[in-house]
Amino acid sequence: MPAGVLGELIVSALDNNGGASHQGPAQAAAEYELIRQVARRLGFDGHGMLLAGGTYASLQALQLAKAHAIPEWIARGPSAVTAQPRIYYADSVHFSVDRAAQVIGLGKASLVPMASVGRGELDSVALARQIEADLDAGHHPLAIVATAGTTGTGAIDRLQPLADLCERFELWFHIDACYGGAAALLEHLKPRFAGLERADSLCVDLHKWFFMPLTAGILLTRHEGLAEEHFGIEASYIPDIGFAEPYRRGIPTSRRGSALAAWFALRTMGWESVTEAIQRNIDLTRRLESLLKDRGFRIMPDGELSIACARWEPADLPPEALDHLQEEISQEVCRAGTAWFATTRHAGQTWLRFNMVNLTTQAHHMDLLAEAVATTARQLSS
Ligand SMILES: Cc1ncc(COP(=O)(O)O)c(C=O)c1O
Repeated sequence: MPAGVLGELIVSALDNNGGASHQGPAQAAAEYELIRQVARRLGFDGHGMLLAGGTYASLQALQLAKAHAIPEWIARGPSAVTAQPRIYYADSVHFSVDRAAQVIGLGKASLVPMASVGRGELDSVALARQIEADLDAGHHPLAIVATAGTTGTGAIDRLQPLADLCERFELWFHIDACYGGAAALLEHLKPRFAGLERADSLCVDLHKWFFMPLTAGILLTRHEGLAEEHFGIEASYIPDIGFAEPYRRGIPTSRRGSALAAWFALRTMGWESVTEAIQRNIDLTRRLESLLKDRGFRIMPDGELSIACARWEPADLPPEALDHLQEEISQEVCRAGTAWFATTRHAGQTWLRFNMVNLTTQAHHMDLLAEAVATTARQLSS
């Protein structure tokens, strides 16, 4: 959002610390209001804080999940663990979840990536069986991490059955909606996010599909009390002015006052501009799928968000050569400077991956892109 740039200028000029309200009162008020509005629009009854991106938000969320499941950890540390903790998610999850689990000291044996189904969703039936088997083996199931908008293919997990499992087995329910959460603002997609309100914690990145300046990740939780209990400290050298202080509810102390820039952008442009832009990105993505299909590409079905995946599959090429060809197409188009896009692995195959998260992308860019990709694909396979 262009107004965010102006907001950034103000944030830099003020150079106030966004970590404590007495040092950055405008930032603190903007953050409080921003989080309140985002939570309300997502239909989430909780509050939270701004962090330096989704990676930090998931880190903080899993630390809370651990504190919730193993309360003695705070006093005793690792010796409080009496059984192998287990965290469940689809194999399509963003790598930041693995990283977070490692940072909070859980180790690889705690991570249970489940084979995904469809476009990359968690299979709740297989997951129920896995949790039961883990309980039989004496493990300690701790949390399910769902993704509402996977990075690779834009898959949205079915949240209700996963929330049901969390209730049944008393697990923490964390939702990574860093990329896809923005689409929950669209009326016709809201039903696909049903169950989001049942999360214990939820992360969304304003700097992704809300078009705000980097870095603005949000962590929302229904357990603000736990956050204060876990991260709360008494520091006599920091004045207590009775405001909900971010430095008492999360990992960071000093922070850039990024909320002011995001709030500035929203006040100027309005939520309607944001939702229109999200819808425009989705429409452009469907248009690209159709253009590529017309040119002979196989399209990954059931796309809902702004990620299109496609494959160029000339006959008589073995699977490894086909995978390699997708890599070559992406590299060649990028090398020519026409467009930038990556590939992704899905269900054992390499796919061309196009992700629209830009305010200025237009229909003619899709036409140009489809033509460049098709021409390159034909040249490389002739
Ligand atoms: C689904 C998902 N989760 C988490 C992240 C990490 O977010 P960040 O880059 O803000 O740390 C990403 C980044 O692409 C993502 O797509």
